[in-house]
Amino acid sequence: MVSVRPLVAADVEAAVKLHLVVLDMEFLSRFGPSFMRTYYRAWTSTPGSMSFAALDDAGALIGVLLGATDPATHVRAMVREHGVALARAIVIAAAVRPRLAKDLVVTRAGRYARGVGRLILARFRPTPVPSADAPRVGEVTHVLVDPTAQGGGVGRTLIDAAITFAREAGDDELVLVTPPDLAARHFYEALGWRSDGSMTSRSGEPFLRYRYSLR
Ligand SMILES: CC(C)(COP(=O)(O)OP(=O)(O)OC[C@H]1O[C@@H](n2cnc3c(N)ncnc32)[C@H](O)[C@@H]1OP(=O)(O)O)[C@@H](O)C(=O)NCCC(=O)NCCS
Repeated sequence: MVSVRPLVAADVEAAVKLHLVVLDMEFLSRFGPSFMRTYYRAWTSTPGSMSFAALDDAGALIGVLLGATDPATHVRAMVREHGVALARAIVIAAAVRPRLAKDLVVTRAGRYARGVGRLILARFRPTPVPSADAPRVGEVTHVLVDPTAQGGGVGRTLIDAAITFAREAGDDELVLVTPPDLAARHFYEALGWRSDGSMTSRSGEPFLRYRYSLR
């Protein structure tokens, strides 16, 4: 039997270990365990985020979901409260991984710097108030299940928890992106997510978009 509860600080070590095994192909994973610990700790404590742990009967962590019910608030809080620690962890990781440093500069450094600059400037301006009619769109950012537990309903239980949480938080819809070469797209389709075309990230990677209506 799988149970799901919010991810807490005590889960971070096991969550990072699992992330680095299951999503080893992700750019983020290349920053290594120290950065990932900072990233997960930040994620579990910022307003606007949602994070869940799936546990087996023995209480071992076998799955993780990260997302945000309010992505704009979440990103602002990540930068404001954890930006310095995250930047330090990125610099340290890049310093000992020359290929990562090169790829970081080529594909992301300018965009990250502009994004942080915009967020710093935003601190001196009033927080934009979204129009009351605008749909509230949350997102699922990562879903990962221990390879030995895949195919047993753990991913579905994590997605169900995110749907319930986002609905209770007042979201109208959830969105996500997934690389076209991952089998995960079949998983989202089996769970009723609607395909919404493709996109290329600002770093040049292709993604498929999916949406799930909460109304
Ligand atoms: C994708 C992933 C999260 C799915 O979790 P899971 O626990 O294996 O999936 P579940 O057992 O809950 O499956 C739920 C449904 O999706 C379907 N499904 C899951 N993986 C599938 C696949 N590779 N191909 C086709 N259908 C799949 C299942 O058949 C099931 O449908 P059913 O209930 O109608 O039979 C998991 O396999 C994983 O961690 N993969 C590697 C990481 C990854 O790709 N993450 C997503 C991108 S961030």
